This record gives sequence, C-alpha cells and structure tokens, in this order.
Amino acid sequence: LIRFPLKNVRGIPLMEPIAQNFETVWAFCPDSTDILIATYPKAGTTWTQEIVDLLLHNGDTEACRRGPITMRSPFLEIFSPPPIPSGLDLLCKMSPPRIIKTHLPIQLVPEGFWENKCKVIYVARNAKDNLVSYFHFEKMNFTQPEPGPWENYIQKFMRGELAWGSWYDHVKGYWEEIEKRNILYLFYEDMKENPQREVERIKQYLDLSVTDDVIARIVELTSFEVMKKNPMANYSFIPKPVFDQSISPFMRKGEVGDWANHFSASQLKIFDEDYEQQMKMANIPFRTNM
Ligand code: A3P
Repeated sequence: LIRFPLKNVRGIPLMEPIAQNFETVWAFCPDSTDILIATYPKAGTTWTQEIVDLLLHNGDTEACRRGPITMRSPFLEIFSPPPIPSGLDLLCKMSPPRIIKTHLPIQLVPEGFWENKCKVIYVARNAKDNLVSYFHFEKMNFTQPEPGPWENYIQKFMRGELAWGSWYDHVKGYWEEIEKRNILYLFYEDMKENPQREVERIKQYLDLSVTDDVIARIVELTSFEVMKKNPMANYSFIPKPVFDQSISPFMRKGEVGDWANHFSASQLKIFDEDYEQQMKMANIPFRTNM
C-alpha cells in the first residue's frame, strides 16, 4: 500500500488524491440542513461525529447503526481508490439532515456551506496532545505520509508540513470567524472535563429538543470506553493494511496531557517558545492539563 505524498493546494499540503480532486470538492454544494464537523486531524472528530449522530436520532442507537461512522457522516474531501466510495459519492446517496466531516482549513471549505448558512461545529485540541495523537495515527494509517522519528515530527508540526497544513493556522482560522459565520467552537479538553455540558451546547446550537435523560444516555454511549468497543465507531472496519491497529489503536488513550509522556525538556522549551510566537495574537484558551 502506498503512503500518499503531499501536494499543495492553495498553499495547504493535502494528500495527493485529495489534492487532485480538490476542484470537485470545492464545487460541492451543500444542503442548508447539512451539518459540518470541522477539525484539524486528531482533535476529537470521531467523538463529535458520534455525539451529533446520536443527538439527531434522539439517542436511538438502532437508528444510527446503518453502518460505520465513515458512512453515517462522510468525509467530504476523501477520494479513496475505487471501489471504496468517495465522500461525495456517499453524500449524494444520503437524505437530510446529513452530517459531514472535514479537516480542511476554513479557507478551503466550499463556499456553499457559508452561503447556505449551514451549521458548522469546529473542535480544537491543544497543540501538544493533538501532535502526539497525529504522530501515532500516522504510524498506523498507511495512507498518511510516513511520520518519521518523533524528534523530526515535532519540527514538521511546528512548520505546518503535515497533511491538512499548519495546526496553528487551522485553529486560528476558524476562531477568527466564529461570530461572522456562526460557528460552534468546541474544545476537546472541555468535552473531557464535562461531556454533558458540551453535548448540551451542541444540542442547543443544533436547535434540537432532546431530554436530559437522553443527553445522559448519549454521554454514556460516547464515552471513550464505550466508543473503543463500538465496531461502528472504532475504525476496526478499516482493514489492514490501511489501518494497522496493532501499531496503535484508533481509540488510543483519549486523555488530556499525554504529551508529557513524549516531550523531552529541551523539546518542550523549543516547542513552547515557538508556540508563543505563532499564537501570540490569537488568545485562544487552550488547556494542556486539567
Ligand atoms: P488519542 O490518540 O490521544 O487517544 P479524531 O477522531 O479526530 O481522529 O481524534 C482521535 C483522538 O480522539 C484519539 O486521541 C482518540 O482516542 C480520541 N477519542 C476518540 N473518541 C473519544 C472519546 N469518546 N473520548 C475521548 N477521546 C476520544
């Protein structure tokens, strides 16, 4: 299996098949009822997809269990080699309201999402844990570029030389548009701290009427432990050699602060100094510990 090389699209490195098909993705015209979940990879996308799907189905797992997560909330820009369907093919066959996942930075999100005033949920995760999670993911996902050694990987992350580009630009890009584009901006750390509160926020943003009992049930169903065992959510449906979960499981740790097990003192110093520079004007309240 090939690890796809990266190719720039409007300055953003994307995996080659995505870059080659980008104009088709850019032309996608969403329905006004479509819900977009946008993230930098490994920020809590799957978790949020599961929460939104359950909220739309009033916590009824049977109603959600029409297939694995990739089919229930397709990945907008994914163009897999045939016969694996592309995200756009799956979306064409779905009835509204559709949940759509993307990792595109805000400037590459098709204009129709803004023109049609679609609901857009952005999930951000602190840089260090996001980086650690991405590193392990690139080791086990054989469509992503080879991550190489940890030491170099930190450098690539700081320079934005990973698939979907710079984490720093990604989180800032959506943050700056929250009000203008009515984006719900969530933090992975808040979801860990108080999942019930954050599920409630999503419910309100989506204008759904779901009872407190159902919210409690959704919180339970979307806990790390339950999702790790759920074959419709844990990516066990993606076979080797695409995902090799013996290298690192998709549901790996699900924690805040695992970065401390990876950074040396000198790596941390370099990373923190660079972070100050890249994020100084942003004022985004990230938490790296809880
Ligand atoms: P780790 O690698 O740190 O464990 P994404 O879905 O965006 O690819 O993000 C995957 C990350 O979210 C992984 O992080 C995964 O374990 C974590 N995750 C997935 N479901 C979760 C849940 N229900 N609760 C907490 N973390 C979850």
